[in-house]
Amino acid sequence: MHRVGSGPSEPEAPSQPSSGLAGGLATEVRSALPGCMEINNVNVDPGYRGQGLGTALIHAAEIRVRSRGHSRVGLGVDEDNRRAAQLYQRLGYRDRGVRYVSRYAYADDQGTDRDVEANRFLIKELVAPADSAGQA
Ligand SMILES: CC(C)(COP(=O)(O)OP(=O)(O)OC[C@H]1O[C@@H](n2cnc3c(N)ncnc32)[C@H](O)[C@@H]1OP(=O)(O)O)[C@@H](O)C(=O)NCCC(=O)NCCS
Repeated sequence: MHRVGSGPSEPEAPSQPSSGLAGGLATEVRSALPGCMEINNVNVDPGYRGQGLGTALIHAAEIRVRSRGHSRVGLGVDEDNRRAAQLYQRLGYRDRGVRYVSRYAYADDQGTDRDVEANRFLIKELVAPADSAGQA
């Protein structure tokens, strides 16, 4: 997880393969959503998928985002990755029309080698937990 469009005093975003367009390094996302936090590279071992681990990982990341004082978080998903997109939409992530292309060698969910990924950046506005509402 890191902030999109990191300023000079912030740590470097994790290194990404090739062109610098992957994940939080996408200039399209930076310019459209400066300062937005990003969840990046969600991945569960194939033998453990469909058991709630992906949902738990995302919820844990959202708690960290909130604890750092941010109320908006997003994540990029391959336009072909419909199942992951369904999961994110179920968790409240919405398509606001931000797009970017990543170029790096990877195997997709079906094990096919690919090197270009067209992504949608989905956004969620986080609400404070009910028990912290109204507190200073
Ligand atoms: C997407 C991913 C992280 C979800 O993790 P998970 O532990 O299976 O997620 P959960 O159990 O909390 O939720 C299951 C939902 O995840 C989605 N999903 C996406 N790919 C899936 C897969 N291969 N197997 C199972 N569920 C998958 C579905 O919406 C599924 O709901 P459904 O069973 O009603 O179709 C996981 O499938 C994964 O690692 N996929 C490969 C890497 C990837 O595509 N990452 C997303 C990058 S944006």
